[in-house]
Amino acid sequence: MKIVLLGSTGQVGWELQRSLAVLGEVIPLSRQGTPAVDFADPESVARSVRALRPDVIVNAAAHTAVDKAEAEPELARLLNATTPGLLAREAQALGALLVHYSTDYVFDGSGSEARSEDAPTAPLSVYGRTKLEGEQAIVASGCRHLIFRTSWVYAARGGNFAKTMLRLA
Ligand SMILES: NC(=O)c1ccc[n+]([C@@H]2O[C@H](COP(=O)([O-])OP(=O)(O)OC[C@H]3O[C@@H](n4cnc5c(N)ncnc54)[C@H](OP(=O)(O)O)[C@@H]3O)[C@@H](O)[C@H]2O)c1
Repeated sequence: MKIVLLGSTGQVGWELQRSLAVLGEVIPLSRQGTPAVDFADPESVARSVRALRPDVIVNAAAHTAVDKAEAEPELARLLNATTPGLLAREAQALGALLVHYSTDYVFDGSGSEARSEDAPTAPLSVYGRTKLEGEQAIVASGCRHLIFRTSWVYAARGGNFAKTMLRLA
């Protein structure tokens, strides 16, 4: 199984490089690599992924600076919504599974109960709004996908995740 991993230099991506390795060939893509993959240039990201023809695309790249996003909403939208949307279209065209990391910031922060997948969203920030737009673009693409609305992640736990991916890929 060929797995393209985007955002491999981040907290989550770094751990995923290790935990996904048991599943197959992991190809980490980042701004620092060759080819350099910059989410501010959505078409080039899509082209790089298309050329690799992966079975699975894992996206842990994002504009994660919540406060900074308020001052640069267009960049946040490119990174969190536009490029994930294009990745989803590539996944659909390739028949690949897209695994995408989202956030609890798509909710308004109220309540203490666990939320179901169809719980109403109400983001309060540019970060939350653009991450929600990214989710919506992925769903609209029709590609096979998993979207994880994570919170306070310090390290991904590989075991169960790897088993889930094996079932779905
Ligand atoms: N950690 C958490 O508590 C948490 C909570 C909720 C949701 N999440 C979600 O989980 C995912 C991963 O989060 P994280 O904590 O690992 O974030 P992080 O440590 O800030 O890493 C972000 C990743 O995105 C990449 N990136 C940023 N701008 C880019 C660009 N223009 N082009 C290409 N790559 C770019 C970074 O690459 P560079 O090294 O090049 O900057 C880095 O690899 C995100 O989708 C985030 O929304 C995380």
